Amino acid sequence: MSLTTCTIHVTQRQERVIYLTSELARSIKLSKTKSVILHLGSKSVTAGLRLLKKTGNHLHVPLSIMSQLHIPYLGTSTIVSHNGKDIRIGPLIGILTSVNGSTSAPFGSRTEFIRQFMRVGAEKSYYFGFSPNDVNWSQQTVTGTFQRKEGGGWYRKTVPLPDVVYNRLPSRKAEKLVSMNAFKQRFVRKNIPLFNWAFYDKWDVYNLLEGSDAFRYVPESHINPSSGQIKEMLDRHKFIYLKPTGGSLGIGIYRLTYNPKRGYYARFRRSGKNVLLRFSKFDSLMSLLNRTNGRLNHYVAQQGIRLIELDSCPIDFRFHLTKNINNNWVVAGIGAKKAGKGSVTTHVRSGGQLMTPDQVLRQVFGSRADQVLDNAKETAIKLAEAIERNEKHLLGELGFDLGIDQNERIWMFEANSKPGRSIFKHPALKGEGKAALQHVYDYCLYLSRFRARRDS
Ligand SMILES: Nc1ncnc2c1ncn2[C@@H]1O[C@H](COP(=O)(O)OP(=O)(O)O)[C@@H](O)[C@H]1O
Ligand SMILES: [Mg+2]
Repeated sequence: MSLTTCTIHVTQRQERVIYLTSELARSIKLSKTKSVILHLGSKSVTAGLRLLKKTGNHLHVPLSIMSQLHIPYLGTSTIVSHNGKDIRIGPLIGILTSVNGSTSAPFGSRTEFIRQFMRVGAEKSYYFGFSPNDVNWSQQTVTGTFQRKEGGGWYRKTVPLPDVVYNRLPSRKAEKLVSMNAFKQRFVRKNIPLFNWAFYDKWDVYNLLEGSDAFRYVPESHINPSSGQIKEMLDRHKFIYLKPTGGSLGIGIYRLTYNPKRGYYARFRRSGKNVLLRFSKFDSLMSLLNRTNGRLNHYVAQQGIRLIELDSCPIDFRFHLTKNINNNWVVAGIGAKKAGKGSVTTHVRSGGQLMTPDQVLRQVFGSRADQVLDNAKETAIKLAEAIERNEKHLLGELGFDLGIDQNERIWMFEANSKPGRSIFKHPALKGEGKAALQHVYDYCLYLSRFRARRDS
């Protein structure tokens, strides 16, 4: 089913009648009817219908209906009718984030990303950014921040509640508040799909996978480990990672190593530098870590994985997955990350280098590179499907940090529900970056029922 777009015009007439060109009426399969219900987001109005014997897809709306429906501007939009009588224009896509009121960068450092996302469906949809404060539940409206068609600036405009909400709230802390949860639930209760519910803690994800086939890709992990557990894991695995369960960007991560002859080593990052400390006794190592009652709270202790290496630096991968128009997971882009010398993680900010998976896998696996990559892609899809099965909310994107060990086994270190897009800065991955945004837009069409759903 291809989508129909139309140009919306305003008429100066007083009657509550909308005019459609007959070509448009045919292409959206409108019934022979004298009145229709016109919808935009959560608002709708009943209006008389007249056909214009003209070619092209045009919709003419009187000023009164334009303002009742809060149509944000004249121009082009997608138009559908699922039953021949209700006509929907849109989709009205709301990006939930924090908004600072600036007219040049209203979404702070996320402005460029949001601008790029808005470019994908421009001329076919209405996009706006909004924060929880912008919603007026009693009026069923949102004061959204829209992009100007020319000049790249931004302006605010009140519109109906959107057809779909893409959650990109940036703060882990704010998102954990009870009030934020209640805010998001209000959309769910109104049947407005909201996807990417909240940030994941590492432990949440490991838990979501437990019991599924995909659990075998998670290295052995323990939450709030005791000293005894850490010692026992070090004895068995020889090296482990300690990671804050709600952390990101490698902040607060320790890599502990045990060498029966020389003792214990701790590697971590402090004040922008990589630090390596040696301890002859386990207890001295433990005094480095900030424990209460013998436990390292809000941390996960995880089996260390011997990753493949280039120039003696470990490599891991970011798999960026999105849903597509058919509600299936696709691997939209893959970046390879080579750790900086002496760094415990592969983040670029700690000296890591971004590469393409091809560059890395050819060097490590030679002619078998494609096979290894295909296997990793399949694994990433399995992981996404398993997470989704156990997740009660909608998910549109997942960013996995995956490792491949020296025996070619695949491991998952974390899943990000609002993945960053830094891998797409690589010149060879720009096209994949665009494709990822296109899939998210298509998923918005699917959720907002601007495309036929398979399940309906
Ligand atoms: N269990 C592990 N074994 C080997 N390397 C790991 C392990 N856990 C994490 N790493 C490395 O550290 C990086 C950061 O870990 P991750 O779990 O993604 O935390 P963050 O949220 O800080 O990004 C990973 O991309 C990987 O390179
Ligand atoms: Mg990570």
